[in-house]
Amino acid sequence: MARPGPMTRAPAEAAAANGPLVAAEAVQKYFPLRRGLFARRAPGEYLRGVDGVSFAIPRGSSLGIAGESGCGKTTLARLLLRLITPTAGRILFEGVDLSTLDGPALLAFRRRAQLMVQNPYEAINPRFTMEQALAEPLVIHGIGTREDRLDRVIAALAQVNLRPADAFLDKYPHQLSGGQLQRVGLARALMVDPIFLAADEPVSMLDVSVRAGVLNLMKAIARARHLTTMYISHDLSLVRYVCETTMIMYLGTVAELGPTEAVLASPKHPYTQLLLAAAPVPDPGRPLPEITAPEQVPTPIGPGIGCPFQDRCPQVMPVCRTVPPPLVFVGPKHEAACHLYGPH
Ligand SMILES: Nc1ncnc2c1ncn2[C@@H]1O[C@H](COP(=O)(O)OP(=O)(O)OP(=O)(O)O)[C@@H](O)[C@H]1O
Ligand SMILES: [Mg+2]
Repeated sequence: MARPGPMTRAPAEAAAANGPLVAAEAVQKYFPLRRGLFARRAPGEYLRGVDGVSFAIPRGSSLGIAGESGCGKTTLARLLLRLITPTAGRILFEGVDLSTLDGPALLAFRRRAQLMVQNPYEAINPRFTMEQALAEPLVIHGIGTREDRLDRVIAALAQVNLRPADAFLDKYPHQLSGGQLQRVGLARALMVDPIFLAADEPVSMLDVSVRAGVLNLMKAIARARHLTTMYISHDLSLVRYVCETTMIMYLGTVAELGPTEAVLASPKHPYTQLLLAAAPVPDPGRPLPEITAPEQVPTPIGPGIGCPFQDRCPQVMPVCRTVPPPLVFVGPKHEAACHLYGPH
């Protein structure tokens, strides 16, 4: 047996390097409900924003998260980036529990994991020129001299096809179109060379005609840089176009998770089936109507009993009223949280 040389990684480190980049283990985020300034909060009055979610994102792959408004997509993204902390459960990044990071390790994580938000007008300070907006992350992380930073800003603008880059340096956000500004948002997220990029509804504010351009750019850059990506979208055609794996969320839980083609072509969870019936996925790249809720969505308040989808499920069974369904395999790497496939 070869003896580990000085360059050999320690076993734990090697496992982290080969394991998924991001992993969530039974992650919960409960929000306390506020009942006015002086009202006492009764125990158990909370909203289950994210309720026991587990998944992993392998290095270099892309995960799509879909589900209707309020199901916890943004909360999950914020947890993964440690913008908020879980009520319970763990989030691992490169095998390290995010809650243990502080000081330089936290700063390094902040560089390696970036979030692109839905509204490009919110992402960029309206008083900043494009040069200032793009240089800011470099300044925060103490990267480069002033000249280096300008070179990097120009290269970043060119990379997102804002050419000639010089023409954009002195522009303010209001002088750019939504599509151009979302490209700046992407460039800004990439300034510090992240390895993980989470995009929350990256094109939903954009005109349909420019969505494909921004998505193609994100896809090409992710491939060229071997980025691990996570896309949140209402639009299943976007998820199909960009993501290898798809996760469907319902009321803070994972309803279905698996290879995108399997989930979208052969959905197993009644909720995924309902979503696809409401908005069948056309050819990739073609715009799709947003997922519409056929009924009022129940609110995730108080203790959830049984399956979160029971009140809307056309195939509800007695067990669904009392037992929360665990994720079970319904195909290769394909899981659904539904009693139809369980031992009951
Ligand atoms: N800071 C907060 N305080 C209290 N409740 C919150 C907070 N953030 C989110 N929530 C609640 O948690 C649930 C999940 O919200 P979240 O924003 O994650 O949903 P979403 O899936 O991103 O929805 P959308 O598609 O509309 O963006 C919602 O019911 C929301 O009202
Ligand atoms: Mg959201």
